[in-house]
Amino acid sequence: MSEATLRVEDHDAVRVVTVHRPDKLNALNSATIEALHRAFEQAAADETVRVVVLTGAGPKAFVAGADIAEMAGLRAAEGRDFALRGQAMMRCVETLPKPVIAMVNGFALGGGLELAMCCHLRIAAETARLGQPEVNLGLIPGFGGTQRLLRLAGRAATLELCLTGAPVDAGRALALGIVNRVVPADELRAQTMALAGQLANAAPLALRGVLDCVNVGGESAIGEGLAYEAAQFGLMFATEDMREGTRAFLERRPPVFSNR
Ligand code: COA
Repeated sequence: MSEATLRVEDHDAVRVVTVHRPDKLNALNSATIEALHRAFEQAAADETVRVVVLTGAGPKAFVAGADIAEMAGLRAAEGRDFALRGQAMMRCVETLPKPVIAMVNGFALGGGLELAMCCHLRIAAETARLGQPEVNLGLIPGFGGTQRLLRLAGRAATLELCLTGAPVDAGRALALGIVNRVVPADELRAQTMALAGQLANAAPLALRGVLDCVNVGGESAIGEGLAYEAAQFGLMFATEDMREGTRAFLERRPPVFSNR
């Protein structure tokens, strides 16, 4: 069954989703794409989950791309359908109403970089390598690579990575703005879980508001984005967490948020 390609475990309010095909460097075949889509829908619906960490099994790869063996035999209409299914899963991740952190533990190539880019934050091991090597296969990125890299790192970096197909190391990815943080490989999990824990203790409705505003703003003119932000800002005043957060500040104590 498709679940076999994923491992899902909860650490308090942090759900860790691990793509688990280490013998294929966690390449995304159809079953894995479907399992990821379902896992993220479940994470969205589960009130006990406040943050999701996404990673790949084994010491070598986050995800080494879409499954080349599966793609090799596809015809044009099937290729398009494969892209649409991958894109739908990644859109589900991007629009999740709670933060998703990509813990990039190794190769993030092709669909792997695309998967990392639809997450809200990316922490990479120093040993990670990231790229869009599809042109080397006579292909182009199909899970949003040309679009999300463009928005994340701009035209120059997008054209360099997608035209040359050459991967960059974690340090260059940081300089280009593709990842948020680079850490020693042996500290990756601890540092990622520390960040996840911090977000898990924050006010969930406020985090959701930020995610919504950034998603809407990334796809609209500034006037529309500002209007949306003002509306969301106003909605926060109807939450108990806003009352608690402001009261706790004034009373010089840590806030206790209730997700209401
Ligand atoms: N799809 C399917 N299988 C993949 C894969 C992918 N994207 N990436 C790696 N694998 C498989 C290999 O075929 C190999 O399987 P096998 O042992 O059954 O032959 C296994 O994973 C290990 O990969 P291997 O190539 O032997 O490891 P390596 O250390 O020599 O090289 C990479 C690592 C990442 C440089 C290399 O695997 C690679 O270039 N992968 C493809 C990257 C890519 O083009 N991604 C975009 C796809 S659109």
